[in-house]
This record gives sequence, C-alpha cells and structure tokens, in this order.
Amino acid sequence: DYEKMNITKIKKAKNNKKLTVITAYDALFAKLFEEIADIILVGDSLNMSFAGENDTLSATLEQMIYHTKAVCKGAKNSFVVMDMPFGTYNNETQALKNAVKIYQETNAAAVKVEGGENRAHIVKHLTLNSVAVMGHIGLMPQYVRSEGGYKVRGKTKEDVQQLISDAKAIEEAGAFCLVIEGVMSEAAKKITEAINIPTIGIGAGSDTDGQVLVWSDMLGFFEEFKPKFVRHYLNGAELIKESVNQYRNDVQNKTFPGKEEEY
Ligand code: KIV
Ligand code: NA
Repeated sequence: DYEKMNITKIKKAKNNKKLTVITAYDALFAKLFEEIADIILVGDSLNMSFAGENDTLSATLEQMIYHTKAVCKGAKNSFVVMDMPFGTYNNETQALKNAVKIYQETNAAAVKVEGGENRAHIVKHLTLNSVAVMGHIGLMPQYVRSEGGYKVRGKTKEDVQQLISDAKAIEEAGAFCLVIEGVMSEAAKKITEAINIPTIGIGAGSDTDGQVLVWSDMLGFFEEFKPKFVRHYLNGAELIKESVNQYRNDVQNKTFPGKEEEY
C-alpha cells in the first residue's frame, strides 16, 4: 500500500500514520528502498559512513549533489530530501543560492538544514522563495565541533523549553517536517505535541510522528559500534564478509568460475 509522498501528504500524516524515513547515498540502494520508505534522505552522514571522515563538517555541496542525483535516479518514485552541508546556509542569500542550485541540479523535493531559533530566519527565507525545508533540531551533528561533542538533549527543564522554542520557530518559518535527533523521549513527545508539522525522530523515542535511520547502521554494515538508538535489521557486515570469503575460497581452490560460468 505504498503511496508516493508529497508535502501535503507528509503534513497530513501527523496523527494519522507514522512516517518511515531512511537514508540512501546511491542509486543502487535507493532503488531497494523505493516504494517502501516514505522519504529517502541523502544525509550528510555519508561523509562519515561512505567518505570515511570523522564528522559531517567537511561534506561539500558538490559531493551532496552528486549523491543526490544518484539517489533520485535510482528512486524516481520517492520523495527525496538532501541535507544542506555545513557552511552552505550561513545567511539568507547564501542559503537560497545553494538551495536553488540543489533544485536546479537534482530532483530533490526538499532540503534539510540543522538549527532552531538561531536558523529560523534562514528557513523562512528558503520557504518564502519556494524551497521546501525539513528542519533538524536536538543533537545536530554539524555543531559537533562548536559544541565539543555529541550530546543528548532535553535533560533539563530549560533545555526542553529551548527545544520547544526551536521547534516552534522552525514550524513558523514554514518547514513541512522536523527531524528530532538525540533527544530524551519525554522531551521529544512534548516537542511533537507542541507543533503541527510531523516530527521524525532518531534517538528520540517512540512518540515522534515518524522515525529515521541511517541505512548502513540499520542494516548492520557499520561494525565499529552500535549506537543505543539503532536496531540492526540485518547483519550486513557479517553476511558480506562471509560471501567475499567464500568467493576467495572458490578462487583459490579453482571452483570459480565453473563450466556454467564460462564462455
Ligand atoms: O545525515 C543524516 O543521515 C541525518 C539523519 C540521521 C537524520 O541527518
Ligand atoms: Na545529516
């Protein structure tokens, strides 16, 4: 019962149906997620999982556009959102110029930007100029260096109030949807109840209007560690290593290729 999403349907999903969001970085995997996930996010997490960097900050606009083009080609039937990378939306003019470039060069339906009250004026400028924006508050990976680490949010009354103000500011600025990352479940619930656009949680408990996971995390391709909020739906790394080992064995003992695999 897959239905291709658009802004209207996503907004209507609030209090109606839980939204399933997954990241993708290339056409091959995007195609596998097409017509299953409601939204495919080309997250700048690809800078870590695919490019091997320590954080998302060095992701570039060109790099993100390259991956987004591939995802859109692989999943033509999907609602694709592209993360605007660090440093590409520091002021209204720069943000709009880069968002227009994203719309012109890819088929992304929307962009995602990190920030709350501090960035609401930028979100407003984008939405006033017909760019669809997904917000992202709570633990914001693009702030890792300025914050001195990844810190779960919403542990104090004051912080919960700040997060609610952030959510309201982003909603008021015209965002159609809001990612809440790394936030205490109780706080995420309050944020979700405080706004009328759907919230998409990651490490934010079960009371958000939807969930998002990084595909390589949820499919078990990332072996170094498993964050608490990740559920492994596949032992990807194990299965791949077993298969490649089998391939090597077959090459070494000359059982690959067989007669049926020859010209
Ligand atoms: O970059 C990313 O994958 C994200 C999601 C985790 C929300 O921003
Ligand atoms: Na991101």
